[in-house]
Amino acid sequence: MKRILLVNGPNLNMLGIREPDKYGKLTLSGIVEKCTSIAKRYGYEVVDFQSNSEGEIVNFIQIEGLKSSGMVINAGAYTHTSVAIRDSILAVGIPFVEVHLSNVFSREPFRHRSYLSDIAIGVISGFKENSYYLGLIALLAYLGEEVNI
Ligand code: DQA
Repeated sequence: MKRILLVNGPNLNMLGIREPDKYGKLTLSGIVEKCTSIAKRYGYEVVDFQSNSEGEIVNFIQIEGLKSSGMVINAGAYTHTSVAIRDSILAVGIPFVEVHLSNVFSREPFRHRSYLSDIAIGVISGFKENSYYLGLIALLAYLGEEVNI
């Protein structure tokens, strides 16, 4: 089956417990489950990965990126700091959508900067867990699937 990567960075394993007003009440496994069922309708398998460590995310993108059609990524705080994650995505040349649960532009200025946005297909920020589903649908459309909106 064709594959879509779903990558989550630091602290996203704490979803459901962590600042629910900003990040929603759903757990990461709930989000992964729904993404898996959306992708399946279009014949894609979701390969998901979460890590609190930058190097592990780089390793995952390097290894899995070459075998996959696209990626949805919430790099968490690494969004605002990581040249290494940016470079790993460029190295494998995988099309991707950057997603955030919160609206990063309504928050502290250091969250307004992203090392990923300019090389992403697009960015979805502020819709809690729906950011992931919207991002996935947008990626599927980008990959040529006829999506139902
Ligand atoms: C986040 C926004 C980031 O600024 C923050 O560091 C996160 C989560 C979001 O999904 O809203 O960990 O990526």
